[in-house]
Amino acid sequence: MIKAKTSLGAYWRELKARTIVPWRLGRDFHRTYRVEPLPGARARRRLVDKAVRECGLGERYSVGPWLNEVLYNFTRIARPDVIVETGVHYGISSAYWLMALEANQKGTLYSIDLPCLTPEGQVNADGVRDLSYVTGVDQTGVVVKRMGLTARWKLLLGDARTLLPGLLADLGRVGFFYHDSDHSYEHQSWEYRTAWPYIAAGGWLMSDDVQWTPAFTEFSQGVGQAPKTWLNQLGVLQKGTLVPSLRSA
Ligand SMILES: C[S@@+](CC[C@H](N)C(=O)[O-])C[C@H]1O[C@@H](n2cnc3c(N)ncnc32)[C@H](O)[C@@H]1O
Repeated sequence: MIKAKTSLGAYWRELKARTIVPWRLGRDFHRTYRVEPLPGARARRRLVDKAVRECGLGERYSVGPWLNEVLYNFTRIARPDVIVETGVHYGISSAYWLMALEANQKGTLYSIDLPCLTPEGQVNADGVRDLSYVTGVDQTGVVVKRMGLTARWKLLLGDARTLLPGLLADLGRVGFFYHDSDHSYEHQSWEYRTAWPYIAAGGWLMSDDVQWTPAFTEFSQGVGQAPKTWLNQLGVLQKGTLVPSLRSA
């Protein structure tokens, strides 16, 4: 995880560098999906920072402003009707998805999170104690609530293992699936396998913290794609071919 402790100047330099140097996705991808700073990036960051401050939150456990801006960009460009994410914590990434859906004037974000009620964190599926579990049900997604972004948001509290299969079956098709919950090998692999059949043609599977385990690399290879990552952290896979309408976006 990248911690959001940097000056605004450094943020812009970083963002610019990341967009000039094509990521490992290759030139075609970069030309088609111009992931660039969109107008309002500073304002978005300020709004989120303000909500974090007003909620008096500590460690953020989010991907940091650059990658959250990438999530925002993807959503603005691809205009998905349905996004499903696992792992909400304070709702920082959720806020970026939701700001983009608001700007698109369409779409719903379904978020699943398993709050942990002890300050010692929770043991994940690989037996590792993980402190990134949000502590307390009322803390899940507080940033979203503080920013008043709940109109396009459905929050489901519980284990993704229990809730994800039913949610996907009810939805039928999703535009984006984003994993950021239990980063054990076992759980990551399970989420990718579970979500993939429901991703619409042209839709995306995205995952934070792919560097933690071989799960994303193995899954990508299993579906016949080279693993594609942003900053060796955010993995992305597209289902099927590029949707022509996105080429002009
Ligand atoms: C890294 S944080 C999510 C950060 C968030 N996506 C962001 O960027 O702002 C991980 C979250 O996943 C949740 N979590 C862990 N295991 C889970 C599981 N099996 N099902 C659902 N949520 C889980 C934790 O409670 C924690 O809130």
